[in-house]
Amino acid sequence: MGKLDGRIAIVTGAAQGIGNGSARVLAKHGATVILVDFAESVEAAAEEIKAQGYKADWRRVDVSKLEDVQAMVDDVVAKYGRVDILHNNAGVNRRVKFEDIDPKTRDFIFGVNIIGVWNMAKAVYPYMIKQQYGRIINTSSVTGTRVVDEGQTTYSMTKGAVSALTRALAYEAGPHGITVNAVLPGWVRTPKVEQVCRDNRPDDPESAMRDMAAFIPLKRLCRIEEIGDLVAFLASDEATYITGTEMVIDGGSTLPETFDILHA
Ligand SMILES: NC(=O)c1ccc[n+]([C@@H]2O[C@H](COP(=O)([O-])OP(=O)(O)OC[C@H]3O[C@@H](n4cnc5c(N)ncnc54)[C@H](O)[C@@H]3O)[C@@H](O)[C@H]2O)c1
Repeated sequence: MGKLDGRIAIVTGAAQGIGNGSARVLAKHGATVILVDFAESVEAAAEEIKAQGYKADWRRVDVSKLEDVQAMVDDVVAKYGRVDILHNNAGVNRRVKFEDIDPKTRDFIFGVNIIGVWNMAKAVYPYMIKQQYGRIINTSSVTGTRVVDEGQTTYSMTKGAVSALTRALAYEAGPHGITVNAVLPGWVRTPKVEQVCRDNRPDDPESAMRDMAAFIPLKRLCRIEEIGDLVAFLASDEATYITGTEMVIDGGSTLPETFDILHA
């Protein structure tokens, strides 16, 4: 018996990275997982999960387009009868200092991280109300909500918005048996983060990974499956009384009060 047996779960941004790890863990616990992404590789990602004997399906959608998102969710419910879990995870980032960022980049980041998250929640919500059951887990971040780095003004703003939506929607959704929570990852080893390391140190990207890990109390980056474990917990009957919360999962990376010059 898996703790998510019989549940229907939608995971966005599931072709790679955190969404992919989450999809695999939810499927391992018995859920039928619909992997959603605009990347073509989402099909292969779903097939890989099915090849391991778990239940998976896929849909190609740009989460920033409400009509497409609604049609996708309607189609999933028509096929599977319900939608129990949404891991609202697709997100993008561009590191640009505030004086250099332009409205086009701003709108691109807002479009996925704010509008896309809103669209997905909006599309599943009527079905969850009808069922009087639902689990919405939004991917926020420690960036913007707890800590900041250079070039992260716009991204930070979107993650603040995701955390705010989590609390406000949890308040409204509670009476309908729907919980809404956010996961706040620190550094997770995903293709996006690997790209950041390649961009910064093209000659030795692994040295950038090692240097980042050195500043994290647990001395390593998070694995995508570890975010999946937290999402599975929040979606399960072990978390029936948890709503409106933000769960930091960062290996302690946000703990230091100041840069420790004595041990550097
Ligand atoms: N990696 C980290 O260290 C980290 C830390 C904190 C928060 N996060 C958040 O976790 C989430 C996933 O990040 P990741 O590192 O796995 O990123 P990633 O770039 O490796 O994967 C993101 C996935 O989302 C998909 N996607 C992007 N825009 C989309 C759209 N408009 N419609 C549908 N799919 C879309 C991409 O195709 C990709 O498959 C994001 O919300 C990110 O902000 C990541």
